Amino acid sequence: MKTLDAETIIARATPAAHQHAHEIQPFGHLVRMPIALPETACREAVDNLNQLLADTTTLRDLYKKHHWQVAGPTFYQLHLLFDKHYEQQTELVDAIAERIQLLGGVSIAMAADVAETTLIPRPPKGREEVPVQISRLLHAHEIILTEARTMARRAAAEGDDGTNDLLVSNVIRANELQVWFGRTRRRHAARARAIKEW
Ligand SMILES: [Fe+2]
Repeated sequence: MKTLDAETIIARATPAAHQHAHEIQPFGHLVRMPIALPETACREAVDNLNQLLADTTTLRDLYKKHHWQVAGPTFYQLHLLFDKHYEQQTELVDAIAERIQLLGGVSIAMAADVAETTLIPRPPKGREEVPVQISRLLHAHEIILTEARTMARRAAAEGDDGTNDLLVSNVIRANELQVWFGRTRRRHAARARAIKEW
């Protein structure tokens, strides 16, 4: 057996930190995957899903912001509801990002890139009252539902049934359901405020 000197042993045990190299796949470039879909279909789906990913990530974070910052007579219910919706949106974020990768694309991941891409208006850093929090959430849901329906129709037309299914069965259905819960809460919040003011 070959004897190693102390320097070699230490070099082998040192973690490989501070490594730099070129990207292996730049953002916007497509890798061809053997999934029996034309390149044009994959490219369009990847572009669309990255927009949806940025918006879904933003809506997810908006739910967490409101989960932390909510106040008032409906605090407990909303605090829990906002976190539940945050968790559900987190699952959608993961499903959308992984679909982008399996189509051969590169998913948007970091906050700065999400902020550059999203169509959802940026909220202030400070706290807002409940009706404003909820109307921001409903507006964000509507942006997502509008684009997801268009994207679902395009995916179906291109023969990309997997993307269509993700959009319809997961994204659209979950967002519609969350809007239903949000609308109910909005009425409660307005009533609670009216009672307080009275
Ligand atoms: Fe929490």
